[in-house]
Amino acid sequence: MTQITQQNWPAFQALNRHRRAIRKFNTASIADEDIQELLVEAMLAPSSGNLQPYQLHWIRNTDLKAEVAKACHGQQAASTAAEIVVISASAAIAKHTVAEQLAYVEASTSLESKSKAYYRKQLGMFNKVLGIGASAIWMPLIYIASLIRPSLSLLPVGSIGSRNWAARNAMFAAQTIMLAAASKGIDSCPMEGFSASKITKLLNLPRGTVIPIVIALGYRASDARVETQWRRKLSDALITH
Ligand SMILES: Cc1cc2nc3c(=O)[nH]c(=O)nc-3n(C[C@H](O)[C@H](O)[C@H](O)COP(=O)(O)O)c2cc1C
Repeated sequence: MTQITQQNWPAFQALNRHRRAIRKFNTASIADEDIQELLVEAMLAPSSGNLQPYQLHWIRNTDLKAEVAKACHGQQAASTAAEIVVISASAAIAKHTVAEQLAYVEASTSLESKSKAYYRKQLGMFNKVLGIGASAIWMPLIYIASLIRPSLSLLPVGSIGSRNWAARNAMFAAQTIMLAAASKGIDSCPMEGFSASKITKLLNLPRGTVIPIVIALGYRASDARVETQWRRKLSDALITH
């Protein structure tokens, strides 16, 4: 182990164990700079083709925040949260990133021509898949094909496949936010218990956009219920080959 990993490992373990789904927050507010910093780190999350097919909605308006909390089926995590971040995802966002990334590649003076050729090819492929490939017409075909080869159902093909692909990618950014928050002593609760149609309407999200997760952030209340963290045994999940 290098010196840096020796120092980082206990810190990582501590924050990974500090991150719990907290469902009741106290009334302390979170500094804007802290939220800003979490979101900056979230943007460093990995994504397929580096297409970052998501947007991070920091709900700063008090009235809107109350409405969003209500749309989280009134969950206490949301109603007591100091801050709420809604993550939205879509193939359209990824398509936009393709264009942005291509412009970056073309303008770059540091990328070698070999790298530029690689990115042009990869981005061109994604552009096709996310363009014509995202159309609903492929869905019957991909459904039948995935009966034979199940992994095909994970491809960003067809409108449902591309939304699932975008949502899957967004979860890495979500986890980054929660671990980054834990490292600042800020608690969080990921939530999928919400009315997607209500939040879509509240945030005026375009058609084809999905909301993979809503994250409540705050500082745990002294009477928040934090039970012993139960997990399956690693031996149940781990298969060595
Ligand atoms: C995708 C996802 C959706 C979740 N939705 C909710 C939710 O709507 N409400 C809630 O209280 N907890 C929710 N959770 C939190 C889980 O219940 C929690 O992570 C799990 O019980 C393990 O507890 P821990 O995170 O404290 O280790 C969600 C977690 C994930 C990853």
